[in-house]
Amino acid sequence: MKNDNTILITGGAGYIGSHTVVELVKAGYHPIIVDDFRNSNKSVIKGLTELIGESPIFYEIDVCDKIALEELFERYSFKGIIHFAAYKAVGESVAEPLKYYRNNILGLVTICELALKYNVHNFVFSSSCTVYGEPKGLKEVSESTPKSEPNSPYGNTKLIGEQLLSDVQKSNKDFKIINLRYFNPVGAHPSSLIGEFPIGKPNNLLPFVTQTAIGKQDSLLVFGNDYPTKDGTCIRDYIHVCDLAEAHVKAMHFLENKSAECLEAVNIGTGQGTSILEVIHLFEKIAGLKLNWQFADRRNGDVIEIYANAEKANQLLNWGAKYTVADAINDAWNWEKKLNEHV
Ligand code: NAD
Ligand code: WQD
Repeated sequence: MKNDNTILITGGAGYIGSHTVVELVKAGYHPIIVDDFRNSNKSVIKGLTELIGESPIFYEIDVCDKIALEELFERYSFKGIIHFAAYKAVGESVAEPLKYYRNNILGLVTICELALKYNVHNFVFSSSCTVYGEPKGLKEVSESTPKSEPNSPYGNTKLIGEQLLSDVQKSNKDFKIINLRYFNPVGAHPSSLIGEFPIGKPNNLLPFVTQTAIGKQDSLLVFGNDYPTKDGTCIRDYIHVCDLAEAHVKAMHFLENKSAECLEAVNIGTGQGTSILEVIHLFEKIAGLKLNWQFADRRNGDVIEIYANAEKANQLLNWGAKYTVADAINDAWNWEKKLNEHV
């Protein structure tokens, strides 16, 4: 089918993918979602339909299923690909590394093979600040900061993913790639029509905060209070998911306007570090309630402090975060309350 602005979004029913679909439509793109809903909730389609004014086109396909995927490359003429589909739970990846290597690496290989075969040359990859590991010097990391070991098999799949793409790009100069290294995505669409659906007990901080506040969890454990940081708790760069979504649109624009030879890694963060206690205090202020939390032992493998130097995103992609951490917390809380209306 011919539409000059058609973009393949693998994992487009997921947390970041769904918000990106909205931004792509706003920018005049025609996204085609591939997702088998293994880590998403089908109700996202309803939210997306309300937001974009029509039902999004989606295919329930495993990205490792090359035969099924190839039918889509035959049917559509993709201008670009944004590859979100992957597993992302750090702890699970330690317990079941092969599950992570199979899905995250095989999925990427499959998509790349088809991208090359069908001459789809604009490729945006979901990478992560986990590729930096624990920063040795400055906690504000830029794309040229030397990397330490990622702290999990999950992190390794992102590093290997970037290396794989680099090798493919060297062998095919027409293939243009941007690796977006996300920091800590948080929040939800301000409409509360789409957001994050953590399956089981959340691993990430903000969903745990909002679930504790709503009563789905008894108490938030704050992992570690004796780190060498401003208040003893770990520091992260929390980026609103809508800002992150917009970065994908800008990355795709950038790739389209590049004639050839592009392999870039770009940090997507706010440039601001926020401690866990700061998140808790902000949340309590925004929600107007006291959160039940207590200190606990450090969590294995946690990076102490990291936040983005986001200048490259600004210069190369003309992107910068518009939302504050407080906006993100507010939207995450509204989303949690909305989810609770349906239980
Ligand atoms: P998510 O789990 O909400 O979304 C991923 C989507 O991919 C899900 O809808 C899932 O069903 C789908 N999927 C997974 N494997 C698939 C397969 N084989 N075939 C078809 N669909 C499949 O996760 P997210 O938070 O939206 O993350 C998206 C991407 O961003 C991932 O690659 C993740 O590693 C990366 N990332 C996430 C974070 C984060 O904290 N959320 C940070 C950095 C990078
Ligand atoms: C943030 C801080 C926890 C939960 C992970 C991945 C990373 C990236 C983003 C994908 C830490 C503390 C958390 C809780 C807590 N994902 N915490 N109590 O660890 O920075 O990054 O998600 O690429 O690769 O590792 O995010 O939200 O899990 O934790 O005290 O119940 O909150 O110890 O200091 P993290 P997080």
